[in-house]
Amino acid sequence: MIYGERIRLRRNERSDIPKFVEWLNDPEVRRYLLIDLPISQANEEQWFENMLKLPANEQPFGIEIRESEPAEGNEHWRLIGNCSFMDIHSTIRSAEVGLFIGEKSCWNKGYGTEVMSLLLELGFGTMNLNRIFLRVDEANKGGIRAYEKAGFVYEGRLRQGTFKDGEYADVLLMSVIRAEWNPKKQVVR
Ligand SMILES: CC(C)(COP(=O)(O)OP(=O)(O)OC[C@H]1O[C@@H](n2cnc3c(N)ncnc32)[C@H](O)[C@@H]1OP(=O)(O)O)[C@@H](O)C(=O)NCCC(=O)NCCS
Repeated sequence: MIYGERIRLRRNERSDIPKFVEWLNDPEVRRYLLIDLPISQANEEQWFENMLKLPANEQPFGIEIRESEPAEGNEHWRLIGNCSFMDIHSTIRSAEVGLFIGEKSCWNKGYGTEVMSLLLELGFGTMNLNRIFLRVDEANKGGIRAYEKAGFVYEGRLRQGTFKDGEYADVLLMSVIRAEWNPKKQVVR
């Protein structure tokens, strides 16, 4: 487990699959994801098997939030989404990150910012990366704001980099370089 203030990251389990099928079939959740067509339980089961063959540091994490305080003695964690490092380059020490929060009631509560802050901590502090970047649709204002709060800066634009709802749209590139990363400066609610 990797613990943040209000979240923890853990490995995916087969039992997560039904939640992914539910979330990724919701047009609002997948609006800015590279998933255009409906997804079946069998599709996700195949994804899970392929995922297990990835190098350990590219296997995704389930994002969980704590539902009760430890003092209450009945700590319970609830899965709300997934995140991962992708395409880790051993020479450049760079990687792409991605996340989605499938539980819509958890949007705009600072969890996306906290996940990204935790991935930066893990990427720079544990995996010895030098550059961590992401791609985000220009229209995904909530995502862009969350990534800025975590320390990502705008670095470029993939013109007409995506096609959604019958139109091309630009995709923004955002990144953090290790030298400019200051974990104490990150704003996490
Ligand atoms: C995008 C996503 C990861 C963001 O996570 P989150 O937990 O909702 O983000 P946070 O709460 O940390 O931050 C969102 C910020 O954007 C702001 N925001 C939300 N919608 C906004 C909009 N339309 N315009 C401007 N700001 C907006 C929020 O107010 C918040 O800022 P604040 O804390 O200063 O008030 C999450 O909503 C999600 O997974 N969405 C569906 C899948 C997806 O788009 N994944 C990302 C692909 S790159």
